[in-house]
Amino acid sequence: MACTCVVGLQWGDEAKGKIVDLLSTEHQFVVRYNGGPNAGHTVVKNGKTYKLSLLPTGVLNPNLRAVIGNGLVINPVRFLEEVNTLRTAGVYIGDNLVLSDHAHLIFPYHVEEERLVELASEGAIGTTGRGIGPCYQDKVGRSNGIRVGELLYPDHFRHRLQAVVARKNLMLHALSADAKQFDANQLCDEYLGYAQQLRPHIADTTILLHRALDEGRGILFEAAQGSLLDIDHGTYPFVTSSNSSTTGIWSGSGVPARRLTRVIGVVKAYTTRVGKGPFPTELDDGPSGLGERIRQKGREFGTVTGRPRRCGWFDAVAVRHSARLGGVDELALMLLDVLSVVDEVKICTGYELEGKRIDYFPGDSFLLEKCKPTYETMSGWKNEDLTKARKLAELPAAARKYIDRLSAILGLPVTIVSVGPDREQTIMR
Ligand code: GDP
Ligand code: IMO
Ligand code: MG
Repeated sequence: MACTCVVGLQWGDEAKGKIVDLLSTEHQFVVRYNGGPNAGHTVVKNGKTYKLSLLPTGVLNPNLRAVIGNGLVINPVRFLEEVNTLRTAGVYIGDNLVLSDHAHLIFPYHVEEERLVELASEGAIGTTGRGIGPCYQDKVGRSNGIRVGELLYPDHFRHRLQAVVARKNLMLHALSADAKQFDANQLCDEYLGYAQQLRPHIADTTILLHRALDEGRGILFEAAQGSLLDIDHGTYPFVTSSNSSTTGIWSGSGVPARRLTRVIGVVKAYTTRVGKGPFPTELDDGPSGLGERIRQKGREFGTVTGRPRRCGWFDAVAVRHSARLGGVDELALMLLDVLSVVDEVKICTGYELEGKRIDYFPGDSFLLEKCKPTYETMSGWKNEDLTKARKLAELPAAARKYIDRLSAILGLPVTIVSVGPDREQTIMR
């Protein structure tokens, strides 16, 4: 029985969506276990491009049950919008989509709180502005957290929301005299309206997944964000508010992580990052520099916010850290075709921190900020078109050497190489 996880090993946008879509036919369930509408996963198939944010990518395959686990934070407006967009595109969405009654609800006051905190230059993270952090804060804080299942009990829900909104209005006003204020009854009516549409999808997904395990069904876990954005093990505080490494599976779905049979770590052939925070190998070299060339060729603009992604060389120190953390068995190396715009390629194999060479990933952002990368330089494959290769042998020798070198440095096999966004543009080893 396959129990697979597809997890990003960098700062997100490693092309996890493409790999989940490729593997979805080998499983019966696909499960998101962390994050919320901050994710943006792209799938290109049969000439159509789909962008998924809150729903698991596997929902595109009608034979699978797509599960939104308890570890997520849900904005019902975004959920319903995404369902409608997919239905308009001809995708079947019915009882194949299941939403955990334990997942937490995002409210507009979460978005407002995040806006006010992010406006201040001190403490800004460069978030997606979707209310993710404040909602997780309320989950952990308990008194103000409201779960999806509570929507099904209108009197109880109204009672809870009245108490929470009264506190939220005070808190928001304390943050800024111009803060938006909210009407609990109005918000309650609005959310109870969404509840009618959500109702057919709501279930205890932990029970559902345990039954699936008992029946020997294949489960595919789809991580959101990247391991370097993990709340505990990433570049804190410039991270997201959930466990985006495989560490989040157990708590975010109720499936013990030891049930996993295969962990695929997804990496780009280079590195990108959206939002603030340290990025040792960043190519911050101006409008005609290599960073910009990679951004244009890789179309590196955020799926959710449209922000330009920061681009840089492959950081093997960072990836080794996330691969160990995630119990990764093998690597999917993505967007290799993009590196055809550079003369030579570089791999960061160590850092220099305060005059000393280190080969580990410092746990603190303020230390990582001081790290200078040390590189290995290899010949590139400039101007060669990789996008038509379907076998390793069809890749330029320099590209094959690059793959082998990454594999040797990281001590992991590269089992999938991607040379374009389409599902056909893939080399399976
Ligand atoms: P995710 O969040 O990890 O699912 O990744 P995103 O969807 O945010 O970003 C990956 C982008 O790269 C998407 O636009 C994909 O269509 C695109 N993509 C995926 N694989 C390849 C590839 O091998 N080459 C190129 N050029 N683009 C790719
Ligand atoms: P996928 O699943 C890339 C980043 C934001 C910001 C930080 C915190 O598509 O890989 P948040 O809104 O989560 O509180 O923002 O995390 N971030 C992502 N970066 N890909 C993502 O998701 C991201 N989700 C959040 O840019 O730096
Ligand atoms: Mg993305």
